[in-house]
Parts: sequence; structure tokens; C-alpha cells
Amino acid sequence: QELELKLEMLEKGGFDHFMLKEIYEQPRSIKDCMRGRIYPEEGKVQLGGIKEFAEKLKNIDRIIIVACGTSWHAGLVGEYLIEEYARIPVEVEYASEFRYRNPIITEKDVVIAISQSGETADTMAAIEMAKERGATIFGICNVAGASIPRLSHAGVYTHAGPEIGVASTKAFTAQVTVLTLMAFYMAQQKGTITTSKLIELLTELDNIPEKIQQTLESNNIIKEVADKIKDSTNCLFLGRGSGFPVALEGALKLKEISYIHAEGYPAAEMKHGPIALIDEEMPVVFIATQNSSYEKVISNIQEVKARKGKVIAIVTQGDTEVKKMADYCIEIPDANEAFLPLLATIPLQLLSYHIAVMRGCNVDQPRNLAKSVTVE
Ligand code: G6P
Repeated sequence: QELELKLEMLEKGGFDHFMLKEIYEQPRSIKDCMRGRIYPEEGKVQLGGIKEFAEKLKNIDRIIIVACGTSWHAGLVGEYLIEEYARIPVEVEYASEFRYRNPIITEKDVVIAISQSGETADTMAAIEMAKERGATIFGICNVAGASIPRLSHAGVYTHAGPEIGVASTKAFTAQVTVLTLMAFYMAQQKGTITTSKLIELLTELDNIPEKIQQTLESNNIIKEVADKIKDSTNCLFLGRGSGFPVALEGALKLKEISYIHAEGYPAAEMKHGPIALIDEEMPVVFIATQNSSYEKVISNIQEVKARKGKVIAIVTQGDTEVKKMADYCIEIPDANEAFLPLLATIPLQLLSYHIAVMRGCNVDQPRNLAKSVTVE
């Protein structure tokens, strides 16, 4: 038994939990995910796995993304990126809903199935149905040789390495990285992006692992914030644009491992419901980085402060505006809006982690949850 314990400690690489180890692995896992796929100097993306379909991608009418859980959140980020850069309409569906509707699918559709494990029953069933109706299936998967890559016509592996913690962390950011690469690849094929723009974006993407490393250095500040809100019974996460899926993912992490009830919402929807919940007991986490929706998010923060809510804001390094209003700020490096989800997710992972540890929860194996859901 002592040997087993020692082995486990070794596997955790000196970290207290797999989840923490996996959070800290992200600068490396994202680098692995991009290796051999991006050529910043030439402004080129290469995705060997979907190369055969390069021509088809020029003429597709739409993309349907199917996934469950955290992978579904990655899909929402993918929607923003693909629509923005490749100008292809995207729908993001919960695999479990999609499979039981009678969805309209044609041979012209591309279905992207996202799955860390590659074994999720609902996602597999969604693929099988779409395939029968003639769609082309791309898989985005972490586990090599799993069922979903085998069921797909083509695909791209995330290469995040084994993820042991039930709450997904590095697999999520790797999925987002692959979707970013796919969006740029499709844009390149369709000619909706210039080479000079791609050079600029890829150069910045290449530097994202370094920026994630910097974000991880805020761990102590995040721990202090965790200590302030650890006894809450509810928590709201708000963001706009691609900050919205980040808010959803932040809320999911918190509820999964700390058992605090948490909701993610588009910040503008707050006035249609969640605002009724806000009082001095309610922490509200905002994705308030300096991008196109910055001013709008600031007014949402004011609305929360006017109702005495506790505001925790993820802000761009050097921000002064939000700092005047928020109770706690966590800084992330400045980046193009396309890469915001990759950076803003990191502090939310750490926040949930510390809160869960402080509450004495089983971080790596939360109650009632499974790493891979192979049954309906
Ligand atoms: C389970 C896991 C989640 C995961 C979801 C989808 O609920 O606990 O972390 O996001 O399944 O799994 P998949 O392997 O398809 O990404």
C-alpha cells in the first residue's frame, strides 16, 4: 500500500492532485497540440488529419458541432472562431438532444464531434445518425484510437496527453486550440483571411503557451480570492462574446468539483433573470478583459455592484477601469480576442480547484461524476 501511495505521488508529479498537475501542464499540452500544425512565418496552418477534405471545405454550407459537457463548451468557442474567420455558419448541439430530434442533415454538411475520451455514448450516437444521412464527420478527440476517431471520416487529435482528473482542464484548452486551428485552416482554404493576417494571428498563437505560463503565476492571488468566496452557496459567471462559453465552463468547473451551485450566463441576459438573485451573498465572476465587449461588460458590473453583489473580474493586465469597481481582480496577459478563451479559462480552473480543496472535496473524483460516460 505504501508503494501504491508512492506511485500515485510520482504520477502526480509533485502536485497534490491530478487536476492541479493537469492545469499546470497546459503551456506544454497546447504546444504539443500545435506542433507541426502551424507555420507562423509563412502564415500557414497544416492539418494532416483533414487534408483530404480541403477541397470540400471550400463549398460547405454549414458545420454542426456535437458534443457533451465541457467538450460542448469548446464547441461554442469553435462557433465564434469558425464564423468569424472562415465565415461558415455553425450550429452547436448537445449530442443527446441532436440524436433524438429529427435534425436536417445533408451530404453537404460537416459534423464536428468533440470528445476528450472518444467514448461518450450520446456523441457516438449523434455521429452514427449524421453519417447515415450522408454528412462528413470530423472528430476532435484526445484519446488515440478511441471509438469516435474510428467512427469519423477524418479528424484532428488534441494531443493533450492522458487526463485523469474527472473535471476536464487541459483537454478543454487543447480542444479550443484545435478548433482555433481548424477555423484558421478553413479560412485559409476559403480565402476569407489574408496571409498577412494569418501571420499575425499564428505568431500570437505560438506565444499563447508562454502567456498561459504567466497566467499560472497568479495562482496565489487566485487562492486568496478562493478563500473569500469558498463559503458561498451560489455563484454566477458572466461573459459576452467568446467570454460567454468561458463563463459556462467556469461555472461547470465550480459546480462539478466544489458542489457550489453555479450558473454561467451571457452577461446581457442577466437582466432577464439572474439579476433577481444578486445580493451581498452572491459572488459574480465576470470575464471583463479589454476586447470588443469591454464597455458593455463594465455596465453589467455596475449593475451588480449597485445590488451589492461581490464582483470577481478576470481583467487584462494593467486594467484600471474594472479595478475601480470590482472587489477582486485577476489579471491575464493582453491578447487578440480570438485567444481570450485559452487564457481566461485558466484562472477559473484554478479558482474552482482551490475552492474545492478548501471545502474538503474530492477534487479528482467528484461524487456522481464519471470521466467517460459510455452509457446513456
Ligand atoms: C463527462 C466528463 C466531462 C466531459 C463529458 C464529455 O461528463 O466528466 O469532463 O466533458 O463527459 O466527455 P467527452 O469525453 O466526450 O469529452
